[in-house]
Amino acid sequence: MQLIPRLVELAPELTAWRRDLHAHPETAFEEVYTSDFVAKRLEESGLSVHRGLAGTGVVGTLKVTQPGRDDGPALALRADMDALDITEQTGLPYQSTRPGKMHACGHDGHTTMLLGAARYLAESKGFHGTVHFFFQPAEENEGGGRVMVEQGLFDLFPAKAVFGLHNWPGMPVGTFAVRPGPMMAAFDVFEIIIHGRGAHAALPHLGIDPLVIASQLVLSLQSLVSRNTDPLDSVVLTVTQIHGGDTWNVIPESAMLRGTVRTFRADSQDRMETALKRHAAAICEAHGATATVRYERRYPSTINTPIETEWSAAAAVAVAGKSQVDREPTPCMGSEDFSFMLQKCPGSYIWAGNGPADGNRTLHNPHYDFNDQLLAVGASYWSRLVEQLLPVNGKSPLA
Ligand code: NI
Repeated sequence: MQLIPRLVELAPELTAWRRDLHAHPETAFEEVYTSDFVAKRLEESGLSVHRGLAGTGVVGTLKVTQPGRDDGPALALRADMDALDITEQTGLPYQSTRPGKMHACGHDGHTTMLLGAARYLAESKGFHGTVHFFFQPAEENEGGGRVMVEQGLFDLFPAKAVFGLHNWPGMPVGTFAVRPGPMMAAFDVFEIIIHGRGAHAALPHLGIDPLVIASQLVLSLQSLVSRNTDPLDSVVLTVTQIHGGDTWNVIPESAMLRGTVRTFRADSQDRMETALKRHAAAICEAHGATATVRYERRYPSTINTPIETEWSAAAAVAVAGKSQVDREPTPCMGSEDFSFMLQKCPGSYIWAGNGPADGNRTLHNPHYDFNDQLLAVGASYWSRLVEQLLPVNGKSPLA
């Protein structure tokens, strides 16, 4: 590996930062301690700091212009700051001090790596242009990235390209994976309420049984993937809840189904929504019942643009070596709200190996911990990406 020597030197300090954040996890839009911490480190490094986007969002800006040249282009790098509602069970000396909250997705590490890159780049000034460092709240579930975009992130901080990174358990530290096109899936949720007619359980002909309809609908929805989706396209539909009825001898008035749909392609997402509503309405109608359907699109799929993905891979190769960068990883059906930034701006999202995923060291597990060996690797990746895209000499690929 070709780590940046100054970042190797800073690694003990970065480790202390990461463990401090780990001990103080905060969830969606409540990242007060974390955003203060981030703003302070950025100010210490000499960046100009903007606060308040999406409440706890922080943006640090670093502009370096080499003598005798114009301003140069701008790019943006993004880290997420939030934790999860999980009770930590690692027993580490720096484990969560906040009951029921835990950094179980490594966002403490993501934040620290980006702070490390900001520190190094502010010291070295080895680029020409502007770098915006986006620290977003509420990546988990609540779409803090979407809120920052809606509140004018790219109007306030225009960028030619935006880049994201996530640690990936199961890949060795010092390896990366990135591909053009879909990297993570779209995340939708649905709720179907079946309105039947209540009756005595022994007199079913007087009612409209929503439980029989619900049962049929669960099976019918399975055909949306198995029979209506191109086998070479990846789609998941999972019914996760069935609620209805209170006692032994009553046919209830209504029943409710809930679940989630995951897709990579926008046309598949549209088709799934339309078909789900059609199945719900038609099956209910066949039985004389009606359906109320709520279908919510939470996160779009994370789609990497081709050129920016080449640049991202080139920076990873500069750090890890060509053989350590997987250019054709299998996309993940999980999702990411970095996708909202990618809808506004070309860019790329890369995975960085977090080491073995043995036992419980997987994302969102109460025994998970971010691997501190990755701090200098990730910070070196961010720094090389900036140095390659905003070169001191010669034309920037972004220009
Ligand atoms: Ni995460």
